[in-house]
Parts: sequence; C-alpha cells; structure tokens
Amino acid sequence: MNIDLAFSSPDLKTKDLTGRIVAVIDVLRGTSTMISALAHGCAGIIPVLTVDEARQIAAEQKDLELLLGGERNALPIEGFDLSNSPRDYRPEKVRGRTIVMTTTNGTQALLAAQTAAKVYIGAFLNLSALAQRLQEEGGDVTLVCSGKQGLFCMEDTVCGGGIIDSLEKDGIPLTPSDTAAAAKILYEYYEGDIYGMISTCEWGRYLLSIGLERDLRLCAQIDSLKIVPVFKEGKIYLDR
Ligand code: MLT
Repeated sequence: MNIDLAFSSPDLKTKDLTGRIVAVIDVLRGTSTMISALAHGCAGIIPVLTVDEARQIAAEQKDLELLLGGERNALPIEGFDLSNSPRDYRPEKVRGRTIVMTTTNGTQALLAAQTAAKVYIGAFLNLSALAQRLQEEGGDVTLVCSGKQGLFCMEDTVCGGGIIDSLEKDGIPLTPSDTAAAAKILYEYYEGDIYGMISTCEWGRYLLSIGLERDLRLCAQIDSLKIVPVFKEGKIYLDR
C-alpha cells in the first residue's frame, strides 16, 4: 500500500487524490466530534464552509428539522443548536437528527478531499477501526490532516502516524511518502502520552485556556469507538 499524508488541506493542491482512499483527521476537535455524534445515533452530518451557508440550508429544509453545529475560534456560534464539543453531542440531543456543521479547519479539509475515491473520518477515538477499514479497501491511501489555518499541527499529524503504525503492526506492507514516514516517527515519540501531546500542542493550549480540558481528555482516548464514518455525496454517515 502506498501511503501519503497531507499536513493540512492547502497541501492537497499539490496532490492528486483521484482513485485514492482518504481519511480526514481533525483531532481537536472536528472529526472527534463527528465520530462522537454518529456513535450517539446522529443520522448524518452535512459539512459546510460558512456559517451563512449552514443557516441557509437549515432554513431551506425546515421540514427536516436540521440541527446546526460548529464553532468559530472554538466558541459556539450564535443561534446554533450545538457547539463543536464532542460532549455536546449527547444521544438525547442528536439521535435520529441530521446536523449541518461548520468548523474552521475540519470541514474545509473534508470538502477539499471530495475528489478521492472514498473519504473516511478519523481521529484517535476510532484509530484501529479506521486502520482496519483502510486495509479492507486495499487501495492507496492519503491521510489528510486538517491542520490549523492551513499549516501543520502536531495532534493531527501524530494521529496520522498512529494509523500508519497500526497498519504496519497488522503486517500491511507500506510504501510511505516522506510526510507519512515523518508522521510515524512523531507518533512513536508521543505514543506513551497522547494526552500530554494534545495538552501541550498549540491548539490544545488554547482550548485549555478557555476551559475545555474535558474535551481534550475525550479526544485523547484511543479506540474508544469502533465506528468509521464515511463522507459521500455531501453527507457524513455510517455505511455499515
Ligand atoms: C477546527 O475545525 O478548526 C476545530 O475543530 C476547532 C475546534 O477545536 O473547535
């Protein structure tokens, strides 16, 4: 398996995703929140770029009683039903509901990856389940880190390295790009203390400064959920 890794979504401008299997990663907190929402019975998530677009979709499809979720600067958006905290997406709030979601970096990365053959949603929460699904797909893989403001971020890259490590431990012969190999080295460095890494990286420090330690602890859990959401035709959902 050829495996590549994009440090952030603007890197995709130099990568051809045609025919490739992609996993988009936004550990803090976009994809961790999406995985939590679907694990708690949410029917699907429509990722969009802007707050206005989210409001417009909800207004146009009033009969579907869509929920609005997301953040700007990690803070809840005025008038939205849900923030971007995975703890907000409790079963009693999200079961059976479709959510229109906009986050600063995570939804951008998802929308930028749409040209791939398949797009999966990854985080530490579903690391092994995702690695298993990538094996089943059998094609070449690109891990897309959401990054921060178009730049490298530690937590997504380390998670990407963890997925590569899991594939290797399962005996999958890998041909990694240099970015994928670098991510694996970073994972090996941090694997004994994922919460330590998450709480000292730039965005983790910011989230801690606004009182979101419990989100960080949740997002640092490895393999607490066994589901692998897929992003297809504009919607994120569970296909099995
Ligand atoms: C993002 O998409 O930039 C993040 O999910 C921000 C956050 O932590 O809320």
